[in-house]
Amino acid sequence: MPLNNEIDEKADELLAKMALAEKIGQMVQIAGPKGPIPDDLKQRLREGKIGSMLNVTDPQTNLEIQRIAAEESRLGIPLIMARDVIHGFRTLFPIPLAQAATWDPQLAEACAKAAAKEARSAGFQWTFAPMMDIARDPRWGRVAEGFGEDPVLAARFASAMVRGFQGSDLSDPGSIAACAKHFAGYGAAEGGRDYDTANIPENLLRDVYLPPFKAAVDAGVATVMSAFNEINGIPATGNIRLLRHILRNEWGFSGFVVSDWRSVAEMIDHGFCEDMKDAAEKSVLAGVDMEMQSSAYADHLEKLAMEGTVPRTLIDEAVRRILRIKWRLGLFNKPAPYYAKPADAPSMEDRELSRTAALKSIVLLKNKNRLLPLSKNIRSLAVIGPLADDPYEVLGTWNRDGRAEDAVTPLAAVRNFLGESFRIHYSAGLDYSRSSDTGQFARALEEAQRSEAVLLFVGEEAILSGEAHSRAYLNLPGSQEALIAEIARSGKPIVLVILAGRPLTIGAVTQYADAVLYAWHPGTMCGPAIVDLIFGNESPSGKLPITFPKTEGQIPVYHAHKSTGRPPENVPLTMMEDIPLRAYQSSLGDASRYLDIGYLPLYPFGYGLSYTEFVYANIKMSSNRIRMDEPFEASVEVTNTGGMEAEEVVQLYIRDLTASLTRPVRELKDFERIRLKPKETRTVVFHLSTDVLGFHNSVMEYVVEPGRFHLWIGGDSTTTLMTEFAVVR
Ligand code: NOJ
Repeated sequence: MPLNNEIDEKADELLAKMALAEKIGQMVQIAGPKGPIPDDLKQRLREGKIGSMLNVTDPQTNLEIQRIAAEESRLGIPLIMARDVIHGFRTLFPIPLAQAATWDPQLAEACAKAAAKEARSAGFQWTFAPMMDIARDPRWGRVAEGFGEDPVLAARFASAMVRGFQGSDLSDPGSIAACAKHFAGYGAAEGGRDYDTANIPENLLRDVYLPPFKAAVDAGVATVMSAFNEINGIPATGNIRLLRHILRNEWGFSGFVVSDWRSVAEMIDHGFCEDMKDAAEKSVLAGVDMEMQSSAYADHLEKLAMEGTVPRTLIDEAVRRILRIKWRLGLFNKPAPYYAKPADAPSMEDRELSRTAALKSIVLLKNKNRLLPLSKNIRSLAVIGPLADDPYEVLGTWNRDGRAEDAVTPLAAVRNFLGESFRIHYSAGLDYSRSSDTGQFARALEEAQRSEAVLLFVGEEAILSGEAHSRAYLNLPGSQEALIAEIARSGKPIVLVILAGRPLTIGAVTQYADAVLYAWHPGTMCGPAIVDLIFGNESPSGKLPITFPKTEGQIPVYHAHKSTGRPPENVPLTMMEDIPLRAYQSSLGDASRYLDIGYLPLYPFGYGLSYTEFVYANIKMSSNRIRMDEPFEASVEVTNTGGMEAEEVVQLYIRDLTASLTRPVRELKDFERIRLKPKETRTVVFHLSTDVLGFHNSVMEYVVEPGRFHLWIGGDSTTTLMTEFAVVR
């Protein structure tokens, strides 16, 4: 790969040869043709009027497009071919939210690397991933695509995935350009409705929503996508403050910005732009270098430049940024590295990786009487549920290039693991997750009755989460709740396995189950990973990256919330049923909570059980008076007191007790995944600096204020093992 300054020189040389129309061409991205390449598209390619395409999945078409651009256009500039490689390409890894539940960024990095290799060999050099929108509302379907509610966790995954996709050299055959999306605030959509308005005070934006993007930029992300939403009244795609002031000037981002699909044109619907010409002007001025799919740049930018409304220097700057990435990707190398020879099947290595990622992402929510792992003495099992044997649905949202035929379902894996001599009684119960047809219930109940235990696979089909798939109700769709109640009539122990793209309100059904595994959408190796856990080859070790609400009315509910003047922990709470008839007006306990459900979530952030027991003790700090700007350590002893070797995610939280702007009751600051043998004790040491204790104050300065802090270390966000320290000048 040429050095950066060589790349700058090459970009400048090329730029000097380009006509205005050719420059604008580089700023245009369109979707690929569905069939053969139409003549008018060939002509546009020859004229250098397209800089990038997305979704050109036919290998021959992909190569032919590149050939025309490279050989038949005046300057021979190749296209950058893009695809949404969100959690895998041919091999599907767990959905990103599930990957976050591993709390193992290195593993996510490995998955991204594997996906990059598959995608690049299929002719793609650019993915629109990772998505790093902080999401605190599981109604929003796109929670599936991100890393959950916490900025520290999300930032670690954002940078890890960028490293995984991009490698150390973008021109490597195993590397593709990553894209940090959606900049910014997209996850804060009002009401959890996709594309909806985000109103985010600047300090919250900087403390919560932006850190993953900053981490991606620091990791060298090649591109950033401007979001669909408006934020504080200005669409992200026309947002100078976000795209120029923060991204480029403050953070020094040197890659290029692509709009989201038609988000330039959609600024008209937002009521921010008058027409397409206005939309082109506002986007370029804001700093959108490439327009995805709508044609405001192609149709109006030349005129805007001729009129002088859009300075030509801005166009040059955008094109330079795009060309630089093309060079870094090696697209100008000879022979041209376009490949377009997709693998015939997932490799064994990628399958193994997918299985490990799934295994570590699955969260054990309940395990009454230690039903799991299942006893080796069981001789018959019922496998029931609409998601027990559906190889398509286990792959999750944004499965574009994976195939159902590659996936191993839970039923197939159970059969494979237990072998012929074992009696497995299967019934779907419902044909699919949304079905209300209870016609198969009787048969399913019979299968349960003639088995010693039941594995029940329910949840959401892949299409119910992801883009534009927000839900107002978060219960198990269709008649699945009724199916669970029906199976419970068998009196047999039930292992409930939930496959879903988001937290579901499962409080009503967990009572029927002895054990509950939350498996998300685990990808290609769903079945083997679940089998490993159910039969105890490994212990579950996933931890929730997002709080599970009891009910939709409790949303938003997240661990890093603020206190109030009346915190509910401090007073006895009168619940709805305790209120006497015709009660005289009173404030009933004076606390911030709901009369009907209290204030606690169904499951807290960071939560997840294990087959073994981890005991935390001896929390210590290097000093309880920390000098500003000095490094310090916090440590804890973790002992595996149970009987099985297992992994645990050790989590460190703090609270800044008094500050000039109130701080959350807990903030995650660090974490580490460890593996302990039975009876083994490990001292886990976190190396911190006072810098991580700060926040943006009322004048938007990042400050660490001296004063008292609490610090907890434990296995989830409700841990009570705490110590105190002070930061002093
Ligand atoms: C719209 C989505 O918001 C974005 O995430 C995706 O990358 C583009 N479409 C391209 O498919």
